[in-house]
Amino acid sequence: MGWACSSLTRETRGLPTRAAMSQAMPETKEEHPCPVSTPGWETGAWQGNVGLAKAQKLATSIAEARTVPLTERTRESTIDLSMMARLMVGKYRNTWRGHVLLKDAVSLHHYQVLMEKLRPKTIIELGTAGGGGAVWFATQAQALGLDDCAVVTLDIQDSITDACKSDFGKLGVKFMQMDLYDSAGVQRAIADLPHPWLVSEDCHVDANVVMQALDDEMIKGDYIVYEDTHLCTPDKSWMDAEDMDNYEYGKFAGQKLDRVEEAMSERAAAWAIDASIQDLYGYNGSTFVNSLFTKTC
Ligand SMILES: C[S@@+](CC[C@H](N)C(=O)[O-])C[C@H]1O[C@@H](n2cnc3c(N)ncnc32)[C@H](O)[C@@H]1O
Repeated sequence: MGWACSSLTRETRGLPTRAAMSQAMPETKEEHPCPVSTPGWETGAWQGNVGLAKAQKLATSIAEARTVPLTERTRESTIDLSMMARLMVGKYRNTWRGHVLLKDAVSLHHYQVLMEKLRPKTIIELGTAGGGGAVWFATQAQALGLDDCAVVTLDIQDSITDACKSDFGKLGVKFMQMDLYDSAGVQRAIADLPHPWLVSEDCHVDANVVMQALDDEMIKGDYIVYEDTHLCTPDKSWMDAEDMDNYEYGKFAGQKLDRVEEAMSERAAAWAIDASIQDLYGYNGSTFVNSLFTKTC
């Protein structure tokens, strides 16, 4: 955090003078590596050291999928209306490498954790829009060192800017203009893509239609994430906490979640929620509720 006014002295900011600090500091860095005034170091060691060890254990527990059948889940979420609406403020202003990226911070983190765990060979994005999502997936894959991960994105319309198409070219992202309702065409287009797959469903087509196109091609260990199923998701894009009087919710996500539950219940023998990621921020602590599935057989 930067200081707003550099003309303030250390005393007026309530901090010890440098002279007082140097007297209070021990002889060697090893005994006390950080200035006594640094928050979190009051006891002579960083207060977070204990947490680091716990976090390491958590990383291991995320790596091991904790699969839970959909039937054992409720629609409750640790994210409330106020937080959802606030997340939408950032989502609808979000860009990546200059391209519109229609994803909120929490979803992006869920994807990041999932990508690190799964190390997908193919990411299939359903719903390209401006292309920012596909570019984000491709650069995230690079950052994780997933050199053999291909990103394929499809949409019924082409709304990708020239600048974004140029980034697709540089990053090897493949765009396919097609309708998800054309199950046979979609199957032909994706059948030979290497597994494991991470499918990001962001086109809001009925989940039964999505699964008709994809399920037969998906294998054990693949993942699908259905976005925007939290019941406080705004009914229309660009509604957010800055205008709560006009924030309407419940209809869009209610319908979408109904369809997701229907489609995945029919396939319950082969699909389960990976709660280690779905519940990373607490129970359904995400902008998608009960919507991060892995194929179990
Ligand atoms: C929310 S946007 C996608 C946002 C993008 N994934 C991102 O992260 O920036 C939804 C997209 O789904 C596409 N879509 C809607 N119906 C579709 C269909 N039947 N088949 C393929 N794409 C469809 C729309 O054209 C739209 O561009």
